[in-house]
Amino acid sequence: MRAKIVKFRKSKSRAILAGFGVGKMKHSTDTVTYKSPEAPSSLEFDGQELKMFIHSTAEVSPKAIIGAGCRIWNQAQIREQATLGKQCIVGKDVYIDRDVVVGDYVKIQNQAQLFRGVVIESGVFIGPRVCFTNDNFPRAINTDGTLKNDNEWELELTFVSYGASIGAGAIILPGLKIGAYAMIGAGAVVTRDVADHQLVVGNPARPHGYVCRCGNRLQLNSRAVSWQCKICRENYIFNS
Ligand SMILES: CC(C)(COP(=O)(O)OP(=O)(O)OC[C@H]1O[C@@H](n2cnc3c(N)ncnc32)[C@H](O)[C@@H]1OP(=O)(O)O)[C@@H](O)C(=O)NCCC(=O)NCCS
Ligand SMILES: [Zn+2]
Repeated sequence: MRAKIVKFRKSKSRAILAGFGVGKMKHSTDTVTYKSPEAPSSLEFDGQELKMFIHSTAEVSPKAIIGAGCRIWNQAQIREQATLGKQCIVGKDVYIDRDVVVGDYVKIQNQAQLFRGVVIESGVFIGPRVCFTNDNFPRAINTDGTLKNDNEWELELTFVSYGASIGAGAIILPGLKIGAYAMIGAGAVVTRDVADHQLVVGNPARPHGYVCRCGNRLQLNSRAVSWQCKICRENYIFNS
């Protein structure tokens, strides 16, 4: 049995997953849908064959789809219908729930937990012990004291956009969108959407400026119009 209602709390998104085709996220009763990448078990990289590596203690469902060149370390668990793109790194003790969608070149550090309803675009960094949540008002039981089944709770989708980074131990509340190249500070509790390139820290996480694609903080220019990276000199203008 599957959770009946799937909703994306703030914004509606279309997951463009490199190597996957297109995934769709909708309000209402739809679940995440995506095209299978039909990934080969190895691929060419600089003329050399890059093989997938799965540690002997990892538990990968035969119904999961794992992209070429992925490396999956000790005691990681990847559930049925989870999908990983190519060349992802899955650290020790990571849990990837069923139906989770992960793009290409994603790094998932030790003990991170990706519960059902999470969609991760390509190039995302997920720090150690990051926890995604998927039910904002969880209850184990119904009002009559019986155990809730899979059909009796609300699954909320979380979407992490291209190139974003999530610091160690951050907790991401359900139904949120984290923008492209956003950065979440270590230990943050994210309760609101995060804009593209935005840095947020703390509990609750609050905006703390912006970061460049390269990962360095951006400086506001003297006229307070645009932001510049002092390392790679890229300029940005943000709407908010
Ligand atoms: C958020 C972050 C990017 C900021 O780095 P920074 O710009 O060098 O920050 P600074 O050390 O100059 O700190 C600036 C201020 O923010 C505070 N701050 C920094 N990181 C913070 C965090 N994660 N949570 C709360 N406050 C934080 C500092 O205490 C400081 O406050 P103050 O001005 O009142 O003294 C960084 O601290 C961070 O958390 N990075 C993620 C690290 C991580 O988890 N990596 C995972 C791989 S191991
Ligand atoms: Zn830069």
